[in-house]
Amino acid sequence: MCGIVGYAGYRRAAPILLQGLRRLEYRGYDSYGIATLASEVCVHKKAGKVSDLPDSQGMLQGTIGIGHTRWATHGIPSDVNAHPHQDCTDKIAVVHNGIIENYAHLKRELIGRGHTFRSETDTEVIAHLIEEAYAGDLLEAVRITLPLLTGSYALLIISAGEDRLIAARNQSPLVLGIGDGEIFAASDITPLLEYTSRIIYLDDGDIAELKPDSYSVYFGDSPAEREIKEITWTPDTVQKGGFAHYMLKEIFEQPDAIHRAVHAVSEETLPSSLRQASSITVVACGSSYHAGMIFRYLIEPVCGIPVRLELGSEYKYTPVPFSDVIIGISQSGETADTLSAIRKGICNNVKTVAITNVLNSSITRSAHDTILMHAGPEISVAASKSFIAQVGVLMQIVNILSGGRCHDILDHARYALEQVLLTDLTEAVDLCSKAQHLFYVGRGVFYPVMMEGALKMKEISYIHAEAYAAGELKHGPFALLSPDTPVIAICTPGPAYEVMLGNMKEMKARGTPIVAFGNEDDGDVSDIADVVIPLPKAHMWTQVLTSTVLLQLLAYHTANRLGREIDMPRNLAKSVTVE
Ligand code: F6R
Repeated sequence: MCGIVGYAGYRRAAPILLQGLRRLEYRGYDSYGIATLASEVCVHKKAGKVSDLPDSQGMLQGTIGIGHTRWATHGIPSDVNAHPHQDCTDKIAVVHNGIIENYAHLKRELIGRGHTFRSETDTEVIAHLIEEAYAGDLLEAVRITLPLLTGSYALLIISAGEDRLIAARNQSPLVLGIGDGEIFAASDITPLLEYTSRIIYLDDGDIAELKPDSYSVYFGDSPAEREIKEITWTPDTVQKGGFAHYMLKEIFEQPDAIHRAVHAVSEETLPSSLRQASSITVVACGSSYHAGMIFRYLIEPVCGIPVRLELGSEYKYTPVPFSDVIIGISQSGETADTLSAIRKGICNNVKTVAITNVLNSSITRSAHDTILMHAGPEISVAASKSFIAQVGVLMQIVNILSGGRCHDILDHARYALEQVLLTDLTEAVDLCSKAQHLFYVGRGVFYPVMMEGALKMKEISYIHAEAYAAGELKHGPFALLSPDTPVIAICTPGPAYEVMLGNMKEMKARGTPIVAFGNEDDGDVSDIADVVIPLPKAHMWTQVLTSTVLLQLLAYHTANRLGREIDMPRNLAKSVTVE
């Protein structure tokens, strides 16, 4: 949530900062701003998306600068609340990702000492505190200020008359990119890929001083060595590559993503805590939670290992972890609730395993072991390929723990996904795009698949979509069924087949239009359904994957038909770093 970017080099900073913010926009997009160092600190900031800014604008002078794209926490999205924030003298400019928990108290004190505030944000106190501490050395003023702050921050700060920028990190991600005669800082590596592959991941408590031709990292007052890592993501992985939206591109990348994910974990690399576990707790949020729920349905019958599933945001209210190991699933590796669950596990001496897409993300620093899912960068706010990769990793864990019983299915996964990408969904889209409410139903492992389908639909099309275990519909929601509430159902051969057919008939009897996922030549399904979305005949695990992809495409095409902002849905941000 919120993205920050900084530059110190020989080129004009403003275009680099604005392009960096465009790359980071998935972290928040209700306002943006940049500040550069010329003879004074120059600021341009505005409510709205940085991608809506004409290229010719925002061309401030200066070769050192900082930028921010915001997901509002304190104060509405507005020009005034947009970052950078400044002190009373306008000499200092600060961008911040995180939350200053004690800002209200600090603000009262600062006002008492004569400071005037312009915004409603928590961040502005930092600029005023630095102003008070400043005695000609910005680094020193930041060092004095940081201990006064409670909360999380990734900060970039510039000051008039100082040819450098200062970066600081505590519980919010911040990386440095080392170029030739230029240096970059950002919330994550996506804006840096086109300039350098040499990355430093700062640690909590680090303060860095960045100049065009040198940098120093300190932990408190002491110099600190931080390793430079070569990263393998290339600039094309964060471009649309001819697709209308990042989401569509990422959906089409799923055959490769599943292949990489399945190979991300092997007998040798599976953490021993998982190999020895007799019970597992999975903690995650949103789509990642649905992946965890699929895992539970798959592992329990195959391996007999009981899985307890917890929402990251609720886990703090449970007394103590009961399992041998906690798996935290998080694409970004930065979701605050999932992180705090991992930390809770560690405090209770439980082994922890992170499944994430982002190397060196906060979750990888907290958990005992990490499995990287290797989905590649995911820019669209709505998860697609990272979800498939999570499921791929989790399926592979079940496969390994079961002694390789599911190997052939996973071997086939890439091809299975390629097969469904071009399915014609026009009729289903016609129906869904006219609806105001949709129900998604499935049984067994297809229940979480439908939860994920409904989440995608509501997230990007803004159509109200609810998922139910099909058997639950009669316990209340049936009252809402009508010809205006299409149901998306999945009915494939397996233990739930007959009863799902019965459920669909019951819905049909209420005049409810039905879009059914069924085996390609299943006459019983097509007799009941108004629209059939055919699934290639395959093992149930494979159909979990193929139906997921088709549900993503259904949501995508419906949202596209409705003209929605697919990659940046309203009110959302990709990496939810606040509780
Ligand atoms: C939905 C979506 C979110 C995330 C959730 C957790 O499309 O992307 O529901 O799954 O915010 O994010 P991570 O996996 O980064 O912890």
